[in-house]
Amino acid sequence: MTSLPMFGNVCRKCRMHGHGVMSSLRLRIMNNVNHETMGKVTPICASPVAIASSIKVIWGPVKYYSSYSGATKMSAWQIHQYGRTEELSFVKATKAATIKSPNEILVKVHAASVNPIDVRMMDGYGRKLINVLRAQKGFMKSGTEFPLILGRDFSGTVIETGRGVKKFQAGDEVWGALSPERPGTHAEYAVVSQDEISLKPKNIMHTEAASIPYVAATTWAALCTVGELREHKAAGKRLLVLGGSGGIGTFAIQLAKSWGMHVTTTCSGDAIDLVTALGADVAVDYKTGGPWRQLGQMSKFDLILDTIGGESTSRAASLLGSWKNSKLVTIVSPILKNSDNLGVLPGLVKTALNAGVDTLMGLKSGGSVRWAVFMPNGSAMDRVRRMVESDQIKPIVQEVFPFLEVPAAFEKVSNGHLRGKIVINTTNSA
Ligand SMILES: NC(=O)c1ccc[n+]([C@@H]2O[C@H](COP(=O)([O-])OP(=O)(O)OC[C@H]3O[C@@H](n4cnc5c(N)ncnc54)[C@H](OP(=O)(O)O)[C@@H]3O)[C@@H](O)[C@H]2O)c1
Repeated sequence: MTSLPMFGNVCRKCRMHGHGVMSSLRLRIMNNVNHETMGKVTPICASPVAIASSIKVIWGPVKYYSSYSGATKMSAWQIHQYGRTEELSFVKATKAATIKSPNEILVKVHAASVNPIDVRMMDGYGRKLINVLRAQKGFMKSGTEFPLILGRDFSGTVIETGRGVKKFQAGDEVWGALSPERPGTHAEYAVVSQDEISLKPKNIMHTEAASIPYVAATTWAALCTVGELREHKAAGKRLLVLGGSGGIGTFAIQLAKSWGMHVTTTCSGDAIDLVTALGADVAVDYKTGGPWRQLGQMSKFDLILDTIGGESTSRAASLLGSWKNSKLVTIVSPILKNSDNLGVLPGLVKTALNAGVDTLMGLKSGGSVRWAVFMPNGSAMDRVRRMVESDQIKPIVQEVFPFLEVPAAFEKVSNGHLRGKIVINTTNSA
């Protein structure tokens, strides 16, 4: 073991300045250390002999947030302007994601999913509001969001942790969904906040795990945060899921059934077998047989999850129970569209006015109508992890695409009619 003490601002080994004050003693494995790392990653200074040695005690300040000095380049799918799938370009050696604040974690992405939000973000959806968030959080340093990496969720391995990270360590297998302003997960590496992730379920593969985080976090925001559903009070309550066969629907049905709810859902005729296999008590084909009449003849609902929007929202409001706590939660919110069309502030004002109209619609029906949006949620992911490990929730994956076929995966999602999720295997570049 070689010791490389540095005193004051001068490295005793090479007499160079600029290493800062002595402030920490740490043990680490070093593969490749030279003066270029000074002031960049961990300020250390070593002779060729010291470089050859693999384990060292390092004296010196920790100027940055962690001690990892790994990949500086990574492969990723990027867009350089908004548009259609043709805008997606595979870049073999773009600047690797790096930790910039103490509670961040660098993960190696093994798999990620493609969500409708990725397809829409590729087209510029939400850019005005999300750019405000990007600027606030320092993700738009050169004044532009481009090149932009899409992808909101992942399953992978922790490579490096910031100094404030206590819950995770290098080597942990984790999953999660990232806030919309962060550079995305359709890449070899991604930086996430420790609050956005949890340990991955041990009983499923990365390509299965990656299908869950974004839809789980959104469903949790809708049913639990906004809908105020609690596991211990859920049993026997009546839930209607509008759109049961897609990513959100297949997850929501399983969550609700594992909490003992009675679940009715709408879907196409060819998806009825799928949603009943997931536990739905009643499946209504929305394309034939007068679905609204059928739904109207049923007992009223305590909670409605609306993944469809538009006219469906107002029609479904009339199916709410006329008791105080019944709620319709729609995840088809106009907030991003309004801010794109009108600008951020007027868009927010218009959204607030829309919310007022929806509140009146809810009051008319006896319950309340609310909006929910995706919220990253590490503690919800941890609850979901346990439910997956106890087989209460299963990943529903329609198709897994190799990393080099991301545009085909986007096409699949934009064509709609999904039965579960579309996943990308980022470790398969065949
Ligand atoms: N606010 C947020 O933060 C947030 C987050 C996540 C998702 N979302 C939105 O929520 C929606 C659903 O997301 P997702 O990931 O589940 O999408 P998805 O995987 O594409 O699934 C949508 C499903 O709905 C079915 N469907 C279409 N029209 C229907 C109707 N009228 N009645 C019943 N089912 C219908 C589709 O199948 P068929 O067409 O074959 O019937 C498909 O299976 C999307 O619009 C998405 O943008 C919002």
